[in-house]
Amino acid sequence: MPSYPTDLNPSEQRLAQTRLRELAETFTEAGALRTPAWREVFQRTWRHPYIPSYYPDPAGPCLLSIDPQRRGEWLAAVYSDQTLGTKVVQVPMPRALRPGTAPILTSSSTLPSLVLRMLEELDVTDGHRVLEIGTGTGYNAALLCERLGSEYVTSVDIDPELIELAAERLAANGYTPTLAAVDGAGGYPPGAPYDRIIATCSVPAIPPAWLEQTSPGAVILADVHGKIGGTLARLIIDGEGIATGRFLPLGTAFMWLRHALDFSPPPMREPEGEPMHSVTTVDPTLLHTSSLFGFVAQWHLLGGASAEGHLPEVAWSMLTDNGASSVHLQASDGSRASVHATAVNGEFPVTQYGPSRLWDRVEDAHEFWHQTGQPPYSRFGITATATEQYVWYDHPDSEHRWRLPTPTLPRTTGYEASVAR
Ligand SMILES: C[S@@+](CC[C@H](N)C(=O)[O-])C[C@H]1O[C@@H](n2cnc3c(N)ncnc32)[C@H](O)[C@@H]1O
Repeated sequence: MPSYPTDLNPSEQRLAQTRLRELAETFTEAGALRTPAWREVFQRTWRHPYIPSYYPDPAGPCLLSIDPQRRGEWLAAVYSDQTLGTKVVQVPMPRALRPGTAPILTSSSTLPSLVLRMLEELDVTDGHRVLEIGTGTGYNAALLCERLGSEYVTSVDIDPELIELAAERLAANGYTPTLAAVDGAGGYPPGAPYDRIIATCSVPAIPPAWLEQTSPGAVILADVHGKIGGTLARLIIDGEGIATGRFLPLGTAFMWLRHALDFSPPPMREPEGEPMHSVTTVDPTLLHTSSLFGFVAQWHLLGGASAEGHLPEVAWSMLTDNGASSVHLQASDGSRASVHATAVNGEFPVTQYGPSRLWDRVEDAHEFWHQTGQPPYSRFGITATATEQYVWYDHPDSEHRWRLPTPTLPRTTGYEASVAR
């Protein structure tokens, strides 16, 4: 066995090199790799040093590279196009089920084809200063260091253990980016301004600190998600610090940017007032069977362009009880809607409570979706200022605009203490 768990013997090295070449071929054909520069970087940069173990299933045991029985499986997984779960923590169950804990995946090494698609979209050139939010294993940071040089790369993660491990593994492979254990919602001011910010965790809106820490012409690439689904948005900063750009047609789903290790759902108010019963011809399961419709509906659920009637958060769930499914929506203002997924004569029974008629908003979304011919992600975009952010359809001044929740995110302090290098 080699001296370090992830050291490869000569035949393993040959295998890894062959797999990297094959993957580069596949990614090029699929359009994930587009430029010779990234293709070369990808083939030169090992992934295995950053993933000495992973969780095939978050509820199950870790697969270790040092397990001789599973060494081949480990190496094959690391050099395949797979997302690999790398950190699991036990968190308290929802209150009704306590005591007890449930495993939650809090870090992973992203699908390599998506990593490369994102790096290509980032469109870096020599001399660009890049901030990555979500260091995780450090593999993406390694690719950035290999492409730009370590002095141009800063990467932050909220989990100090991940930063410590990534720093060790990156250094062992010759990379010394600036790494810090901070909440990436605050960016990382000591390294600003950045030419590029890339987030490998999802955000409900663009954190204002990212706008402040970028220079005109800079690119922010982040997965902007409502409660139902989202995808990567690529925004460009103008001379006034306003970021504008479109969603990319990928339909990605990163883990959420979190501020603490608290996964308990936010407290919701009890439903208010008398229930209102009606029927709908819109199949409620469309919210999850059509990712494009779910994407459109989630913005409608937040409200329109004005602050009036805007809901900062609408949660969505689908329940099945005795074989009968129903869709439930609930908002922070106490509004609720439940819709049975079994139609009676082509109509689905609806019950709504509270000041905001949540299901009516989904019906509006459905009408919009049909009238606009079921548009793809790329017809939508975002405009983000420090105080207001909108998703828009077709162009920033469109009559179809939906206000995003205003980020009220913590600013991080104490940078010096948290820097790993
Ligand atoms: C999908 S993983 C990142 C993968 C990583 N880029 C790689 O190459 O392995 C998402 C990461 O975001 C981190 N994260 C979550 N919330 C964060 C926050 N507020 N600030 C910084 N990182 C955060 C998680 O700890 C996790 O490691």
